[in-house]
Amino acid sequence: KTNIVTCTAPVNIAVIKYWGKRDEELILPINSSLSVTLHQEQLKTTTTVATSRSFQEDRIWLNGKEEDITHPRLQSCLREIRRLARKRRGDGDPSVDSTGLSHKVHICSVNNFPTAAGLASSAAGFACLVYTLARVFGVEGELSGIARQGSGSACRSMYGGFVQWIMGKKDDGKDSLAQQVEPETHWPELRILVLVASAERKPVGSTSGMQTSVQTSSLLKHRAESVVPGRMVEMIEAVQRKDFAAFAELTMKDSNQFHATCLDTYPPIFYLNSVSQQVISLVHRYNRHYGETRVAYTFDAGPNAVIFTLQQHVSEFVQVVQHFFPPETNGGQFFKGLPVNHAA
Ligand code: DP6
Repeated sequence: KTNIVTCTAPVNIAVIKYWGKRDEELILPINSSLSVTLHQEQLKTTTTVATSRSFQEDRIWLNGKEEDITHPRLQSCLREIRRLARKRRGDGDPSVDSTGLSHKVHICSVNNFPTAAGLASSAAGFACLVYTLARVFGVEGELSGIARQGSGSACRSMYGGFVQWIMGKKDDGKDSLAQQVEPETHWPELRILVLVASAERKPVGSTSGMQTSVQTSSLLKHRAESVVPGRMVEMIEAVQRKDFAAFAELTMKDSNQFHATCLDTYPPIFYLNSVSQQVISLVHRYNRHYGETRVAYTFDAGPNAVIFTLQQHVSEFVQVVQHFFPPETNGGQFFKGLPVNHAA
């Protein structure tokens, strides 16, 4: 018997950034983080998992190309899902297909956006993998702790809306989980735009970048211990009040501090390019022009800007961006107005 399940998972954009691990294997962070999960139909990964008695071994294809299934993070996710499935069978749950448990899986995963361009593809990818595997093996319940072991930021894509990843204290990571702060319906006017400055692969990946930062940056230590805890509280309050100015200012400051820790890393890491810097200046000039904070930027481990604004300002801001970055001069930039909730 062949069993096939297909699921999709969206990208999430951190507004309080995760950067640095206290445990590399379990993927435990040095600070909590908070993100906004995009609408399902926008930037997303689609994963199909098939199980069959006739499969000889586990295999995986990413965007049509077969990849190494022995990758330790993939193995962690597969092992943890199978462990939970076995546990449920052991508990005598009849809904668990006991024959399928020993079967090998074929996994096929595709992104509808460029991989490794700093657009959080690993987050959507591992969230989707874990969720789809769980469905295939009949596992339910808390899965963010497993997605976390695929890629830290992936644990936040297990929920919609506004999501915090609580860093936890335990050595075994059992308390390092994602939790929804507000659902996707909470702030229907909020909009996300992605300004693609480059769709190329980033020179330094997040995993190795944050490793070097933990080893060399005293600013990162200060950030994790003394800045982020207070910011998490303020950010959650700003989201709950739907206070755009407070949300936007914290978002920009946190992005800037993250990139400052990259510069404080030795040797330094540069994720922003000249286009990113121009976008930063433009956002501040735009806000200054109106005398209020109408737009915010945030950048992950790459030069692409993610812009937060409210619905009523989207078309004007897009016009301003297109005025300063005409499509014909920058070859291949595109802009998207992405609703973050289903009602929009
Ligand atoms: C800058 O989750 O990609 O996007 O846990 O090593 O897989 P690993 O790293 P990853 O790091 C994301 C870093 C970030 C900030 C964030 O999303 O919080």
